[in-house]
Amino acid sequence: MLKGKHILLGITGSIAAYKAAVLCRLLKTAGAEVQVVMTPLAKQFITPLTMATLSKNPILVEFFDPENGAWNSHVALGEWADCFLIAPATANTLAKMAHGIADNLLLTTYLSSRAPVVVAPAMDLDMFAHATTQRNLAELRRTGVHIIEPADGELASGLAGKGRMAEPAQIAAFVDALLDEKKKSLQGKRFIVTAGATIEAIDPVRYISNHSSGKMGYAIAGELAARGAEVLLVSGRTALPAPAGVTRYDVLSAEEMYQAVVKAFDTADGAVMCAAVADYTPEHYTDHKLKKDDGGLVIRLQRTKDIAAELGRRKAGRILVGFALETDNEEAHAQEKLRRKQFDFVVLNSLRDAGAGFRGDTNKVTFIDAAGSEALPLLTKGEVAQRIADKIERLIQK
Ligand code: C5P
Repeated sequence: MLKGKHILLGITGSIAAYKAAVLCRLLKTAGAEVQVVMTPLAKQFITPLTMATLSKNPILVEFFDPENGAWNSHVALGEWADCFLIAPATANTLAKMAHGIADNLLLTTYLSSRAPVVVAPAMDLDMFAHATTQRNLAELRRTGVHIIEPADGELASGLAGKGRMAEPAQIAAFVDALLDEKKKSLQGKRFIVTAGATIEAIDPVRYISNHSSGKMGYAIAGELAARGAEVLLVSGRTALPAPAGVTRYDVLSAEEMYQAVVKAFDTADGAVMCAAVADYTPEHYTDHKLKKDDGGLVIRLQRTKDIAAELGRRKAGRILVGFALETDNEEAHAQEKLRRKQFDFVVLNSLRDAGAGFRGDTNKVTFIDAAGSEALPLLTKGEVAQRIADKIERLIQK
């Protein structure tokens, strides 16, 4: 899909600029035409010669060529682009973009271009987590900029955390999907996806949780986003980076997940409930670490709110997809859930199937709906996500 597409690749002054060389290669290999625009500081991190050689185009940095006065038109650049991809995008450039500051060629081009804009932030974990950066990202997202979330991992500073630029292959795949109109079947639709395990605190140190890795829910969120949907991923604890193009909202407890999901459901077209929500939470949270003594310990638990059931009550034509993880009498339990929670369909996995359920990269599921059941073969979680998205698309077309 990148064949013949014009990608304006913006590079800013981050150590992750070295990855822009690989990214440029990937885009070129896929058949795109690439024009690189760099901020002055970016030249300190990767040379214009490298980028010019890889993109097969001269690099643009300044508003004009001091040798001959030739003007580098930001307007023409913006018009040429099918996509303006800024990777890496520093906190500084993101802040300026959010506020309309245009003190270099890259930023002026951003303001004058009508092409879709994709940014891949890269910075130290504290800069990324800073309230100001998060505010700027939220503002950019509101204005339609696509944000490829950075990954969690080792950073150039020696620290570890969220701030590493997404890998070039992931960025190229995102731009590919963005420009592939054929795949945009869920354009204009808004979905909530819940994923991961909730955490129910007993005291400041201990909690009750479960083995959910979040992989299935994250794959679904990514697939819906790749098909053009606006996706809010309400995530319990996982170790996964947010899929490209997805807005992730982190929660801990079932109660926090309930609040976030119910609030967003009003303006959504549907929700996929993939989270492993705790059914019970301690009746009382102890605000100091519980001391052990020789005897046993009894912790009284109370039921959490059933988020899916509440959405079922508020459904009013929206699409609602549920999951069921069962160990016995699987189909009957899933049928019961389908009715009680008003799901359009239930994705049933049985812990008895090899390759299904928690943590792994594969899943073996059966779709259960009012018409009956459809057992799928063992598939990767990405493939299961595609099948779920196909089924959602068919429900929307009805
Ligand atoms: O009743 P059970 O927990 O087996 O139902 C599973 C389905 O309900 C899943 O889709 C799960 O995400 C959702 N659920 C929920 N809130 C709860 C419990 C389960 O949304 N408190």
